[in-house]
Amino acid sequence: MKPFVRRRARSLLLAVAVVVVIAYWLRWIDLELGRKQFASGYLLYGLVVFLALFNIRKKLPTLPLGGASSWLQLHIYVGLIAGAVFGMHLAWRMPNGWLEGLLAVSFLTTFLSGVVGLVISRQTPRMLNCVTDQVIYERVPEMRRSLARQSRTVVIQSVAASGATTLANFYGHQLFDFFARPRPMGYFFRPSSERRKKLLADMRQLERYLSPAEKPALERLFALVRRKDDLDFQEVRQRLLKVWAFGHIAFTYVLMTLATLHGVLAIAFRGDE
Ligand code: HEM
Repeated sequence: MKPFVRRRARSLLLAVAVVVVIAYWLRWIDLELGRKQFASGYLLYGLVVFLALFNIRKKLPTLPLGGASSWLQLHIYVGLIAGAVFGMHLAWRMPNGWLEGLLAVSFLTTFLSGVVGLVISRQTPRMLNCVTDQVIYERVPEMRRSLARQSRTVVIQSVAASGATTLANFYGHQLFDFFARPRPMGYFFRPSSERRKKLLADMRQLERYLSPAEKPALERLFALVRRKDDLDFQEVRQRLLKVWAFGHIAFTYVLMTLATLHGVLAIAFRGDE
């Protein structure tokens, strides 16, 4: 078994053990005629506060509070434990009141968005390993401008060298927009290599109509089309991570607000023992 698989299995087992201990603790409180709902509520609130603090930890990376990867691991397993405590707090049923219903939906949304984010953040580095020139998100527009400039220069030099305009016409009709702009919105939801394949196929078709002096320029355009397509792909994957993080944090704030309100009301209307 690989070390990281062993570590993951050990952490999961530990999380399951913690959940079992919590379940027995709540059962014991119940048998002692204590307020099980309050105990699980306080615990759940504490866990959610801890999970929400991750946002502050990420904003202050220089504080000596442990490494980013340990925090992430802790966040994930505490998140999963919180999911189980949430189930116990609700006795595995959806609540009746509107505030409680809203709170339950808010918790589930935050929890599920966490799981989705985990999948996206694990897939992204593997996917980006397959592209050429890895670029940080903030540098994408600059890189796009540079590729567009390079492609235009290739075509202008080819016209000057060959005196032929076949490649330049093709560039104007098929490639200018591709280089000049980011991909349309649909590509964000379903990135695919269709456009790249179509452009490369059209360029291969074009090759036979080009003069020998234009062919080296076409070869350079082949490489630039691949780099631009890789850049578009990196941009949408990184944007997806940013949109996801924004959503996960926004859901966290809503959850914290509703949970605090619910807790205050529960304590205010707590009857005598
Ligand atoms: C249910 C309560 C949860 C709350 C309140 C919560 C809250 C947060 C917060 C505030 C951040 C920091 C975001 C940032 O500043 O960039 C975060 C990040 C994250 N959360 Fe959660 N989370 C919860 C559950 C989960 C679960 C169940 C998982 C996965 C199983 C999860 C996975 C992640 C991941 C992968 C990150 C990004 C870490 C990174 O990019 O470094 N979360 N969460």
